[in-house]
Amino acid sequence: MGIGARPGEAPTYNRAMAPVAASAPRWSAAMLATSLLVGLLLAGSTLLGAAAGVAHGGEPPAAAPPAAPPAAPPAAPFVPSAERGYRHILDTPYIPPTFDDDDVDHLYTLWPAAERAAAEAASKEARRALTFARYGLTPRPDDPAKPLQYVVDERGRWSLNCFSCHGGQVEDRVLPGLPNAHFAFQDLVDDVARLAAQRGDTPTAMATSLWRRIPLGTSHGTTNAVVFSMALGAFRDADLKLVLPKAAPKFVHHDLDAPPWWNVRKRPRLYVDGVTKKSHRALMQFLMVPMNGPERFRAWDDEFKDVLAYLESVPVPRWPGAVDATLAAAGRVAFERTCAPCHGTYGATPTYPAVVVPVDELGTDRVRHDAIPRSERERYARSWFVDGRADDVDLDPKGYVAPPLDGVWASAPYFHNGAVPTLWHVLHPEARPAAWRRKGPSAYDRARVGLDVEAAAAVPTEHADPWSRRRWFDTTAAGKSAAGHLYPATLTDDERRAVLEYLKTL
Ligand code: HEC
Ligand code: HEC
Repeated sequence: MGIGARPGEAPTYNRAMAPVAASAPRWSAAMLATSLLVGLLLAGSTLLGAAAGVAHGGEPPAAAPPAAPPAAPPAAPFVPSAERGYRHILDTPYIPPTFDDDDVDHLYTLWPAAERAAAEAASKEARRALTFARYGLTPRPDDPAKPLQYVVDERGRWSLNCFSCHGGQVEDRVLPGLPNAHFAFQDLVDDVARLAAQRGDTPTAMATSLWRRIPLGTSHGTTNAVVFSMALGAFRDADLKLVLPKAAPKFVHHDLDAPPWWNVRKRPRLYVDGVTKKSHRALMQFLMVPMNGPERFRAWDDEFKDVLAYLESVPVPRWPGAVDATLAAAGRVAFERTCAPCHGTYGATPTYPAVVVPVDELGTDRVRHDAIPRSERERYARSWFVDGRADDVDLDPKGYVAPPLDGVWASAPYFHNGAVPTLWHVLHPEARPAAWRRKGPSAYDRARVGLDVEAAAAVPTEHADPWSRRRWFDTTAAGKSAAGHLYPATLTDDERRAVLEYLKTL
């Protein structure tokens, strides 16, 4: 059953989004109205012009979200639990549902003829598997009928969770905490909206507002996630109360590859530029959808201490194949000479220097660095998320942090924008493809260590559908450059072979 109205059902948001359990957030019509207003403000420039007359800076919208259920009085100091943190992500719909099981089971009707025919001929289970593969979803390890990437409630309604971007598959292993290199976010949201339109359903507020106003990602596996939080943050005051911004916000859209979670424990600061000290509240920005009022953030504070504890407990995945120990030992020597000053050392007594490299010197894509204005960092530094510790925020980051390389074999593609498909291509800057596309969700290149891709001099101009276009990564597009990080160029070919072998052992 779709979330929108079906024959015989009242076309109201309230019914469809009624809470399913006492602890579940209550979405009311008032909140949804706010959501639509925010969506309108974030719409394209024409709408922005129209909405400018509506915007009145500093005034809270008429409808304030109702209070969240009161938290139990603290009996003892809160002790975060990694196990609980994992369950929170899997089971708590922190943002409202946007579609349901019935929608998912009909998405195939929108696919190009050949794929649609294959899905039609398949069993219901096999069709689900095809649907999961197309949109970059994987089974949940403990409950394979459900997706890892969405919370599905007992009424079959799907809410996006952290694993949509931070949980995926390498070869046939599903790993929570692995960047989801195959998530087709834009295709999934577009197809759900098309399905709703075809059926004449009343689309959900989320489908018509936020997710439809901001580009979600121009290539599979990368998302415009930083702009989502900037866009949502523009509608909040320092205490997270909903406000309308004085001017319609403008953004430089750009897609990023999510970092692997198993490195969070090593990192003193978060995000590619290390903008903020690590804290559980930094993880809550994603929840700023208009339906979540300030009370709800406070009620969820402890849950996100659990979430951070979970992130810091995610195990480093081990290379599944054989390793040539002699070659790896030689690689270690070259690595420690050339790479360790930035990336640290590994083994029994690891070190991690968390070096920030200025973007001009590094030479990787600079759009992420330039896209966030100082005013945005200042806003963040004043916000509830840093809890009065404004010094935790770097108002003027110089570049990108050299990440830890633990488990790096698994987290392809590489660099913050995911522009380089394999470690071999990181080590051979001159051979990086200008355009490439994934062969499939489990296609992995053990020789070059990374995604198994088809490379081309340019993205072909003919595409059957937008999904086929977004399978390609175009390094000539804005924010998608594969240039820079030329440090491996000082190594001989033999040394690069050895370093590649060593990287498998981290
Ligand atoms: C739509 C995709 C998406 C969703 C959903 C998402 N993230 Fe992220 N996440 C990203 C991207 C992209 C980055 C890199 C941003 C940057 O560094 O500028 C990131 C960065 C992070 C980092 C920083 C890691 C590091 O090494 O610096 C953490 C921690 C994190 N996310 C946790 C979460 C949690 C917890 C949730 C759920 C509440 C979540 N994310 C939801 C895409 C997403
Ligand atoms: C001067 C500091 C510096 C040196 C030296 C350096 N790197 Fe890096 N490395 C970085 C930075 C910064 C990034 C992040 C670049 C980005 O995301 O745009 C990076 C990214 C990477 C990545 C991609 C990680 C990911 O998860 O996307 C790999 C792999 C890597 N480096 C390997 C190496 C190897 C191997 C060497 C030695 C041959 C080396 N680096 C030398 C600073 C350095």
